Amino acid sequence: MTPTASVNERIQLAVKGVQGSTCDTELAKGPWEFDKGMAEYGPGASSEDHIPLGAPVQAQIPAEYRAASDEVLQERIRAAKATLGDDVVILGHFYQRDEIVQHADYLGDSFQLAVAAKGHPNAKAIVFCGVHFMAETADVLSNDDQAVILPNLAAGCSMADMADSASVEECWKQLTEIYGTEPNAEGKVPVIPVTYMNSSAALKAFCGRNGGIVCTSSNAATVLEWAFERAERVLFFPDQHLGRNTALAMGIALEQMPLWWGRKALGGNDEQQLRDAKVILWNGFCSVHKRFNVGQIEKARQDYPGVRVIVHPECPMDVVQAADEYGSTDYIRRAVEGATEPSVFAIGTEVNMVQRLAAQYPQHTIFCLDPVICPCSTMYRIHPAYLAWVLEELVKGNVVNQIVVDQAVQADAKVALERMLAALPK
Ligand code: 13P
Ligand code: SF4
Repeated sequence: MTPTASVNERIQLAVKGVQGSTCDTELAKGPWEFDKGMAEYGPGASSEDHIPLGAPVQAQIPAEYRAASDEVLQERIRAAKATLGDDVVILGHFYQRDEIVQHADYLGDSFQLAVAAKGHPNAKAIVFCGVHFMAETADVLSNDDQAVILPNLAAGCSMADMADSASVEECWKQLTEIYGTEPNAEGKVPVIPVTYMNSSAALKAFCGRNGGIVCTSSNAATVLEWAFERAERVLFFPDQHLGRNTALAMGIALEQMPLWWGRKALGGNDEQQLRDAKVILWNGFCSVHKRFNVGQIEKARQDYPGVRVIVHPECPMDVVQAADEYGSTDYIRRAVEGATEPSVFAIGTEVNMVQRLAAQYPQHTIFCLDPVICPCSTMYRIHPAYLAWVLEELVKGNVVNQIVVDQAVQADAKVALERMLAALPK
């Protein structure tokens, strides 16, 4: 196998028993095999992930796309894109398949893609090759006459699904009953909500309505500083790990970060714990980043003395503590790009991105901490067949798979998102 083989090619080889192993052999199939009118995350998803009722479902795409070879799909995408010209902009997240990334006008982390969505007011359509919450954000930040398209509607995010509006509203009610709403002598309110970008537009709107803000993994530290200038505490959702890792680095003690369990009274805490809290962490997590563990880091250090271990802050705290560095997907990309001497990098983030870096920088040895090939199951739902379909429909004048955020939700979500865009990554 060449070092430049894509994750898809590696999965196909692993399934044939040639080399490597994958967490789910069904990943070798076309995602349309799973578009059966039932919502599901798809192969590779963790058994701990439960897709909520009412999650978007992808209808079966036309047979001509499902049957087309990779080469034909690539050619059709190129041709449709050339016909559409500046009317379309394709945004791609770093975790997308190589077969998609090669068509992206902009590749980035979720902060950069939000900026890119806002920065193309003249494109009639924004095709978002990423997951549902990213496309919703693009819809909120783009103009009303622009259509945001998610090529496969089943590309959700299991972490985002771990916080629903009703549970967060209930949590907020219980917290405000304890804390009240009056500012203290320094003018700080008792608590501010901070949602990770990986959440529904409805939760971003909740933050906008309640003096809160959105953060991404790249500006989480700036956002927490912003919040503590205005509040005594923060309610952070849905990712407990990003919240904990960021707050710990700011010097906040673990005892001041109680976990909030959605279905328990006071989130499973007592009143005093909540009064003493600085950051209340929602009990959400990313199943992709939960696969990384300290044993993998120890093995990397044994196999490659001097290795640089860099992980994403969605990894559990012990993994982040054992790593040399941590940061957003773009932080990881820049760390590799900036290395002047041939180096060894062990990386704890989604495998498509790691594999791409390994292919782009052959002077370095770059590998994923997890030896099992297990992409983010929902990012992987965006296959070239869907991209070809949505682009060719645009050529015919049809907008399919449009993501439309309700106008009332948009207004409040925009407040929280504009605050996020002003809180620049450090
Ligand atoms: P980034 O903001 O670092 O791109 O992360 C998004 C994400 O979903 C990571 O799992
Ligand atoms: Fe969601 Fe995790 Fe996939 Fe990111 S990697 S989109 S947090 S499931």
